[in-house]
Amino acid sequence: MTDAAVQTLVRIDAETPADAASVEALVMAAFGPGRYAKTAERIREQAGVAAGFVARENGRVVGAVRLWSITVGERPALFLGPITVSADSRKGGLGGDLVQACIDHAGTTGILLVGDEPYFSRFGFRHAPEARLQGPVDQRRVLWLGADEPAGTVRAA
Ligand SMILES: CC(C)(COP(=O)(O)OP(=O)(O)OC[C@H]1O[C@@H](n2cnc3c(N)ncnc32)[C@H](O)[C@@H]1OP(=O)(O)O)[C@@H](O)C(=O)NCCC(=O)NCCS
Repeated sequence: MTDAAVQTLVRIDAETPADAASVEALVMAAFGPGRYAKTAERIREQAGVAAGFVARENGRVVGAVRLWSITVGERPALFLGPITVSADSRKGGLGGDLVQACIDHAGTTGILLVGDEPYFSRFGFRHAPEARLQGPVDQRRVLWLGADEPAGTVRAA
């Protein structure tokens, strides 16, 4: 077999409607039904999807992330999540590529998320103690990437 034949083809694409079932399966495998209890999920139920990206490995969806339209106080922003990479494709940089696709899409618009600071700090995300989600959340997991620290209630837009 040639080197080219064994190479894995991976790329980041915009999510299409045909990807929805694969994305749902990935998210369910990573987070289980408990995700529906999360305050972040309440935002996603009400917000419009601003963008979605998938990682494809030889055509198969192995990673996904979505961005949702929100406001923090009066400021328009994007809410990132869920992000997931299938267990057998992790630690190869796909998660980072998906986050970067979101950052590129956002441009000068700020991004808020609820997640692990040890993972997201590498992309520049910082704590956002004044961004208030409407429900129980560990405030230390509320992170922001953008100009100026956001303040105010987080709402679907
Ligand atoms: C988080 C996730 C998307 C990262 O995907 P990935 O393709 O492995 O990401 P990358 O290859 O870009 O980065 C991997 C690195 O991040 C680290 N990492 C992964 N999750 C982490 C976390 N929650 N906190 C801190 N570091 C983390 C890995 O240990 C690895 O470290 P290394 O580079 O020193 O080996 C993936 O682990 C996943 O789907 N996890 C389950 C779902 C989840 O928890 N999502 C939300 C995270 S807050």
